[in-house]
Amino acid sequence: MAFRIGFIGAGKMAEALIGGLLAKGVFTREEIVACAPSEGTRRHIGDTYGVAVYPRAADIVPLADILVLAVKPKQVDGLFTGEGVAIGPGKTVLSLVAGLSISRLKSYVPDGKIVRVMPNHCCMVLEGAMGYTCDDSMDGDERSEVARILGSVGLAVEVQETYMDAITGIAGSSPAFMYLVIDAMADAGVLNGLSRKDSIELAAQSMLGAAKMVLETGKHPDVLRDEVCSPGGTTIEGVRTLEDMGLRSAVIAAVDNTVAKSRRMSGN
Ligand SMILES: NC(=O)c1ccc[n+]([C@@H]2O[C@H](COP(=O)([O-])OP(=O)(O)OC[C@H]3O[C@@H](n4cnc5c(N)ncnc54)[C@H](OP(=O)(O)O)[C@@H]3O)[C@@H](O)[C@H]2O)c1
Repeated sequence: MAFRIGFIGAGKMAEALIGGLLAKGVFTREEIVACAPSEGTRRHIGDTYGVAVYPRAADIVPLADILVLAVKPKQVDGLFTGEGVAIGPGKTVLSLVAGLSISRLKSYVPDGKIVRVMPNHCCMVLEGAMGYTCDDSMDGDERSEVARILGSVGLAVEVQETYMDAITGIAGSSPAFMYLVIDAMADAGVLNGLSRKDSIELAAQSMLGAAKMVLETGKHPDVLRDEVCSPGGTTIEGVRTLEDMGLRSAVIAAVDNTVAKSRRMSGN
């Protein structure tokens, strides 16, 4: 076997993973292969990362044991039915395709081991948040390898497949919710005389810093909030306003509605 991992599709998510795997030293460039129909994508990935890139999935399937399925949902059927790509026994298929269930993917790859992943686009800066489900047939070593691959682009949590719609709400879609908050904070900065650029950067850095405080101290967010609210001070005034205006309920409803929509779209 010439390569350790092969990417079927070399777009945004594949590029994020290839970049992460190389940056974290999980695989060398000689161990990675990819494919994409358009010459522009092949040239970009080949020139940027120094990995081998072929035009068709059939070219790379025999070359790697782990295959990352990174095409758009609407391209999946064309790949397996139209092009007749066949993935045989002994291969692991790590699918990033939103809404594609393990059982549906099994109908295309009956003999492969399947890992279904729901990532978010922050994988592109190696700060993704994702949930994944492994095929029951996978052993401990195979699961560790999957955790190592996904961990190269962010936080990867193994969950049962039934929770994939919840993962869509809290991780897949949630960067959009955070961008809304950053943009609203920046508006308030501009309202108070700061430049748009400074306001966006300060708001984004505050979100990044707060997130790191939660992840690195292990403290509950409520405890951290109490630590920055001095009695009778400025911060508790803002906290009271957010509570009065229903921030918690709005966030819970936004995530819950996203989960419900994901369930409807995937027929769950
Ligand atoms: N982007 C996100 O934030 C995000 C988040 C969660 C899940 N996902 C999932 O990740 C998957 C990939 O998304 P993406 O954003 O990376 O899409 P993308 O940028 O459009 O990449 C798709 C890639 O698939 C290639 N491709 C298309 N048909 C192919 C075929 N028949 N054989 C081989 N390669 C083929 C395309 O080639 P060309 O470049 O030559 O056109 C392109 O490189 C999707 O299923 C999506 O649901 C994405």
